[in-house]
Amino acid sequence: MTDIYCPLDTPSLETATKWAADLAGHVGGMKIGLEFFNAQGPQGVKAVTDMGMPLFLDLKFFDIPNTVAGAVRSVTPLAPYMLNVHASGGPAMMKAALEAAEQTSASLGIERPKVIAVTVLTSFDESDLESVGVSASPRDQVVRLASLARDCGLDGVVCSAHEIAAIRDACGPDFKLVVPGIRPAGADVADQKRVMAPPEAAKAGANHLVIGRPITQAADPVAAARAINASMADL
Ligand code: C5P
Repeated sequence: MTDIYCPLDTPSLETATKWAADLAGHVGGMKIGLEFFNAQGPQGVKAVTDMGMPLFLDLKFFDIPNTVAGAVRSVTPLAPYMLNVHASGGPAMMKAALEAAEQTSASLGIERPKVIAVTVLTSFDESDLESVGVSASPRDQVVRLASLARDCGLDGVVCSAHEIAAIRDACGPDFKLVVPGIRPAGADVADQKRVMAPPEAAKAGANHLVIGRPITQAADPVAAARAINASMADL
């Protein structure tokens, strides 16, 4: 069943913990990204995980293999359910991240965080890809990077809903697909470009939907999360 990970995209500990408390039971987990992590650091992450919900630590590591391995060693003690790196960092970097997660979690006696790879950001379209020198279509580039991530032993990828079917064909049914760029009908798209509505993305086979502003910026975030869950209930 598809669940929602809600990004706590705020620099404020108070706001983040309020969202997490209010949304507990309505979403599958929380996502912490660059905005909150850079303001509140590991202590802020702990404050959220202490509330007992699975965490997707979305720091999108992208550096030389040794540095990424060190970053993964540093965050694994926070016991995220998932963490991520950029697939464009290449096979040596992805393998180093996975190995660091394996070794650190084993030495701590905790479950290994799932290591997933960002393929092509959902704020990118074909012309954005072209502007950074990639002539492939978003779908071909996503499938290429997803296959690379799978070959490196990673647990899944972050992709847009438009690429789910193609990745399932290439990477099989057990590969985790985490899907941002989700917009209920009529919601503001903002900076996202490759978007889809929750029921369609769930039907396509997403494991986790990342849904932020349509929930956190709603007048009533809990009602917004409930409505999205209801829209996926009959699938
Ligand atoms: O729903 P909303 O657009 O607000 O959610 C966007 C969240 O998903 C942000 O936290 C962003 O960092 C994250 N994200 C994304 N595209 C990716 C990976 C993560 O939008 N490819």
